[in-house]
Amino acid sequence: MSKSLYIKTFGCQMNERDSEIIEQLLAQDGYSLTSTPEGADLVLLNTCSIREKAEQKVFSLLGSLRDEKKRNPAMLLGVTGCVAQQEGEHIRERMPHVDLIVGTQQIYQLPEMVQRLSQKETSREIATNLDASFEIPPFQKLLENSPPSPAPQGFKRFVTIMQGCNNFCAYCVVPGTRGREISRPVADILEEVAILARQGVREITLLGQNVNSYGQTNAVADQPVGFPELLRQVAATEGIQRLRFTTSHPKDLTDELMRCFAELENLCPHFHLPVQAGSNTVLKRMNRKYTVEQYLEKVDGLRSYCPDIALATDIIVGFPGETDSDFTATMDLLNQVRYHSSFSFKYSDRPHTRSAQFTDKVPEAVKSERLAIFQKRQDEISLERNSELLENTVEVMVEVCSETSIKARTGGNHVVHINEPVAGILPGDLIQVRIIHAGNHSLRAVLA
Ligand code: 5AD
Ligand code: SF4
Repeated sequence: MSKSLYIKTFGCQMNERDSEIIEQLLAQDGYSLTSTPEGADLVLLNTCSIREKAEQKVFSLLGSLRDEKKRNPAMLLGVTGCVAQQEGEHIRERMPHVDLIVGTQQIYQLPEMVQRLSQKETSREIATNLDASFEIPPFQKLLENSPPSPAPQGFKRFVTIMQGCNNFCAYCVVPGTRGREISRPVADILEEVAILARQGVREITLLGQNVNSYGQTNAVADQPVGFPELLRQVAATEGIQRLRFTTSHPKDLTDELMRCFAELENLCPHFHLPVQAGSNTVLKRMNRKYTVEQYLEKVDGLRSYCPDIALATDIIVGFPGETDSDFTATMDLLNQVRYHSSFSFKYSDRPHTRSAQFTDKVPEAVKSERLAIFQKRQDEISLERNSELLENTVEVMVEVCSETSIKARTGGNHVVHINEPVAGILPGDLIQVRIIHAGNHSLRAVLA
């Protein structure tokens, strides 16, 4: 009998991909996706704990699901992902109506756990081990058995290439929630990409917390394939028209990887290179292991191989001890690199991180003020950057189309709206358009 599954995903693209894997695993047992938790047989929150706000959202949704569970006692409620990993048993103490708590390495065991619960062999399931010798199972086989349910953007998909992180940035919860870095075997990744390409997927984004160090860890230690070589092999897969990856640590960005942007035609000219701060003092306290000068050299290197590359970054404002002049250095860096876009955050303490122990915290009002200044300037620069494309003819991949309009994306990751009647154009098609208007978050174009 068909059973219904509701998954709410918080956080990063890694989590989005994990939610798909969960969906594919549970589809083997007859679960199909539903769009609301009301009346669902199984409700899963796939959670994020990167910042305080992300975690608060999870607990507030769990709180509101208490009533739903009263109305529908047969419903199973589970928490997966980083909050499950970090909080484990504490979740049940705060939220006794939760039946299932599944850590980041255990999602592959979900079907058995759910089965034990639904057959009442047990009244709760908790599995949150983080094992340094963990190996990511070859779950790509699932894709062949049951194609994923038609995602709204089925032409573009994420492929996880590694899990975990060995970097220990002072503010970051990820080594605690995702464990040590583990790379997937090359053969599994290539098989997954090939299956997806056969199913009509045209754009692939390779995912990992630090893709630049792919291949340096246990699962593939005997296979001398680093990230640039993996990129070349994935790029050569028939049918893959666009290739992207995220996220990179600047210290591991090699010349060989930069060169891929000049050599691989289907590698999109877009690079997300989180800098976090523009002051060497702050970078050192963050344990980022590079200086602003070294970072800028990498930016120059990327631009020399690919002059039009669109650069994006992540910034934290108000890291403990950040002075006015440290913040000015971050603004100087922004003005020098002129990122196409950025994600910027107010620093928040996270459990078991080194910076949570630092005593020189920046007041909330100062963090808010710095964030607003940074974001205002970034918006201005994004608009200037987008305006550089005016009157250019560019290739875009169609993402959504209706009878009167198209939403598409450039290789540089700019969203483009085309308000014209269209016939015979489908999501995943590459078309030529002429940019006629630039805003700070998107562009408008006409068919060229
Ligand atoms: N506080 C604020 N922002 C954080 N990030 C990671 N940890 C924290 C924290 N404790 C940001 C970083 C990272 C992005 C995913 O989230 O900028 O690159
Ligand atoms: Fe959030 Fe990091 Fe976990 Fe992704 S890996 S869900 S960003 S805490």
